[in-house]
Amino acid sequence: MSAEAATGAQTFVLGPVEQIPLGEGRAFAVDGGQVAVFRLRDGSLRALPAVCPHRGGPLADGTIDLGVVVCPLHQHAFDLATGCSTTGADNLSPYEVSTDEQRNLVLQVPV
Ligand code: FES
Repeated sequence: MSAEAATGAQTFVLGPVEQIPLGEGRAFAVDGGQVAVFRLRDGSLRALPAVCPHRGGPLADGTIDLGVVVCPLHQHAFDLATGCSTTGADNLSPYEVSTDEQRNLVLQVPV
């Protein structure tokens, strides 16, 4: 489900936040692409493109802490808040993600 927002972003509701265990990520098909949503151990949420810019690894399957995700293929690391690689790979553009009153994941994708 999606809706155009006045901010120039499109909103996608991705279902209950509980589908992502604490400390893990999940990939979602969004608007013809793949977005990785991460639920950090402190309960906060982050979202990045799900395809690693190095060689296409699955970032949602990467290891996360409170600051970075490490790609499972060749261990490039990306700041979860900014998308910037801390290991010299290309940078990613983060998405805004939050929850609504029903604790559904709400993702904002720029249009
Ligand atoms: S594909 Fe992600 S580090 Fe190589």
